[in-house]
Amino acid sequence: MKLLVKGKIYTNKGLLDGSILVQDGRIIRVAKNIREPVDKLLDYSGGRRIVLPGLIDLHVHMRDFELSYKEDFFTGTGAAAMGGFTVVADMPNTRPRVNRPDVLKKREKVAKEKALVDYAFYYGVPDREADLVGGIEDLAMGFKIFMQHEFYTDKRRLTEKVLEFASKREMLVVVHAENPKFFVETEMGLSGLPQAEASAIKDIAKLALSYGFPLHVTHISSAAGMRELLRWRGRVGITVDTCPYYLLLNAKEALTKGAVAKVYPSIKSSKDAEILLRRLKEGKIDAIVSDHAPHPPEEKSDPRSASAGFPGLETTLTLLLTLVNNGVLELRDVVRICATNPAKILKLNEIGSIDKGKIGNFTVVDLHRRATINPKAFVSRGKCSPFEGKKVEGMPVATIVRGEPVMLDGELVATAGWGKNVKTYR
Ligand code: DOR
Ligand code: ZN
Repeated sequence: MKLLVKGKIYTNKGLLDGSILVQDGRIIRVAKNIREPVDKLLDYSGGRRIVLPGLIDLHVHMRDFELSYKEDFFTGTGAAAMGGFTVVADMPNTRPRVNRPDVLKKREKVAKEKALVDYAFYYGVPDREADLVGGIEDLAMGFKIFMQHEFYTDKRRLTEKVLEFASKREMLVVVHAENPKFFVETEMGLSGLPQAEASAIKDIAKLALSYGFPLHVTHISSAAGMRELLRWRGRVGITVDTCPYYLLLNAKEALTKGAVAKVYPSIKSSKDAEILLRRLKEGKIDAIVSDHAPHPPEEKSDPRSASAGFPGLETTLTLLLTLVNNGVLELRDVVRICATNPAKILKLNEIGSIDKGKIGNFTVVDLHRRATINPKAFVSRGKCSPFEGKKVEGMPVATIVRGEPVMLDGELVATAGWGKNVKTYR
């Protein structure tokens, strides 16, 4: 199977007006002119479309299993394809949790049957030490630790076992860093103060220093947390991501939006947002994630009791492209935070750039296509967003996974089961 993609191509050396030839899922040539019979041609030359390396989202909740009424691998990876993401990394807080080898295997089976784009798994802190066994690394890229439930509680001993296990195998440890000592009751229910983040980052960074596991702090939300993280960087290997809403919204706006904007960690002040955006531009925040966390409308009504989180796969890229059009970010920042760095964090050398020998994953964007965010039209089952009604400029127009178009012009065109575990890249 040979695919030729023509147009403005984002390469490490800048934009190239040329072609990419993909054979059996791998890029075999990138050049100005490629004349060769192919099975499929996607021509994006002329106009304002750009072919980017396939985007990677390091933090999504595909749900499925018993929570498939919220989302499943088909609707979740469909949302990814619509939003321009070629790889999504799935969190283990499912029902049952992905913290036993048999559940991990079952997760692989379900994802393999339903996914449209490629996927990675994180393994959760197990309930028994016996569930920390060799073989986890055959399917999972790393571990996820939810510190308020698994570190500041009686699960701490098991969490340290995870840290030991991850250190030996150099597996990534992704943490939701909040110390419940600094939680307060608010109109949106329990919510962490900035100190909650700073304190947890300090605690986990100390352990990274003594154990040696690669640490990744996900969805940082506060300037205080970021300040603490930068204190440790250099002494210990530590990477960090944030989400669009921590950059674009503030606590006051979140409060007026109510339950729909309820998320953990909570959205902080406009000063926090401003500082995080500055750190992102400086290259100190490594990645942007959606933290795609869908819930049905009935769970997003009363702010105090609502489930936290909202879908993000269909808004993240378009929000970032809007920042590019507003002169806040550059296109190369978007590629760095959504493709190059996420690939490095997952230690996946096969993706993250458009080069000969790499996997043929691409996200084609129309930098100036305009839209208004309309959650009712999401492919995700979570039909809400704190960005509802926002005018955006810059949209994905095609998502290509291993040389196969998955989304073209806002339509899903692949069949369920095309997506593969990134572990099969090797
Ligand atoms: O807002 C959130 N939603 N924060 C989390 O940590 C979990 C997530 C979810 O799974 O819905
Ligand atoms: Zn999450």
